[in-house]
Amino acid sequence: MKKNILIVPGDGIGQEVTEVGKSVLVKIAEKFGHEFSYDEALMGHVAIEATGNPLPDETLEKMRNSDAILFGAVGHPKYDNDPTAKVRPEQGLLKMRKELGLYANLRPIKLFDELLSASSIKPEILKGSDILFFRELTGDIYFGEKGRKNDNNTAYDIAEYSRYEVERIGRKAFEAARTRGKRLMSVDKANVLETSRLWREVIQALAPEYPDVTVEHQFVDSAAMLLIKDPRRFDVVVTANLFGDILTDEASQIAGSMGMLASASVGDSTGVYEPIHGSAHDITGKGIANPLASVLSAALLLDISFGLKEESDAIIAAVDKLLKDGFRTKDISDASTPAHLLLNTQSAGAELLKRI
Ligand code: NAI
Ligand code: MG
Repeated sequence: MKKNILIVPGDGIGQEVTEVGKSVLVKIAEKFGHEFSYDEALMGHVAIEATGNPLPDETLEKMRNSDAILFGAVGHPKYDNDPTAKVRPEQGLLKMRKELGLYANLRPIKLFDELLSASSIKPEILKGSDILFFRELTGDIYFGEKGRKNDNNTAYDIAEYSRYEVERIGRKAFEAARTRGKRLMSVDKANVLETSRLWREVIQALAPEYPDVTVEHQFVDSAAMLLIKDPRRFDVVVTANLFGDILTDEASQIAGSMGMLASASVGDSTGVYEPIHGSAHDITGKGIANPLASVLSAALLLDISFGLKEESDAIIAAVDKLLKDGFRTKDISDASTPAHLLLNTQSAGAELLKRI
């Protein structure tokens, strides 16, 4: 397969972990006989420093022309401590999502057996949890009309969804469910909200097109409870922007560490794959960042944008093997980790490549 991949490391540890993520793509291409070409572009603080713009036109152009984007993170303490700064790294992030029409945010919550004890939930409840969230990213109450009235004594936010918006994310989720456990949970609040009633109607109308997928509807309050009570009940979940925002943060605790979680934002064209963590300036330059979230982002890229499931699984298996062999980066280690099994960013990359 011939593809061109844009690498956008961004800021801070984004640069350190994306280097490892890219090396995994290079290794996979070599092993499976694919022809991947790479280009690189600036975004965030480094782009502001170089051009005055967090998402330069040249970067956006390269993004549009790429088959997929491996992204790091953007951010710098300079802006975190100055909320009045007019030009900011995260403006680049929001503009990218809007310009590329990235309406579906995917967050796989995969718990590696070796990290069972890193979570605050009991191991016997967690063991084997593997969930894929589809959060709608460009609609809902976040984008509706909002304002104040009654002399500033009342505030309102209006939630809106069109059939089209629900259908396009619904299809993505059904298609993903087909490639996994063939179970889809749609989460709404259809007992109360009109947008949720439309949501449920559209998902129900799609279901006959995917007869191999079993659909379950849950109210969001019940889904929040079940996520902690019985996470194995979940396979693919599709939900609206607000519910997805809350449920995915809740679910991230199932996997234990930030350094292990990848995400994808996809639309009709190119997809963006990135760790859920930020630029982590507290550890930047120390070489200790866990690169596995970027590595797992590369795995998602291969699976979702290129349909290369076997290649993607090979990466996940290598991460699993690395952990089974006892290796740990600092964030997932504890007092019992022997010094010779403690990895830094680079050695984690090297040990991982050996296992692919
Ligand atoms: P953060 O995710 O960068 O860091 C939170 C904590 O987790 C820190 O103690 C950090 O050292 C640790 N951590 C994160 N990733 C790690 C890894 N791979 N290995 C080991 N430890 C890791 O979030 P924080 O500190 O709130 O934000 C830092 C900057 O990142 C800010 O400027 C923020 O705006 C930006 N940010 C950017 C995001 C993005 O580009 N998508 C997302 C979240 C934050
Ligand atoms: Mg959130």
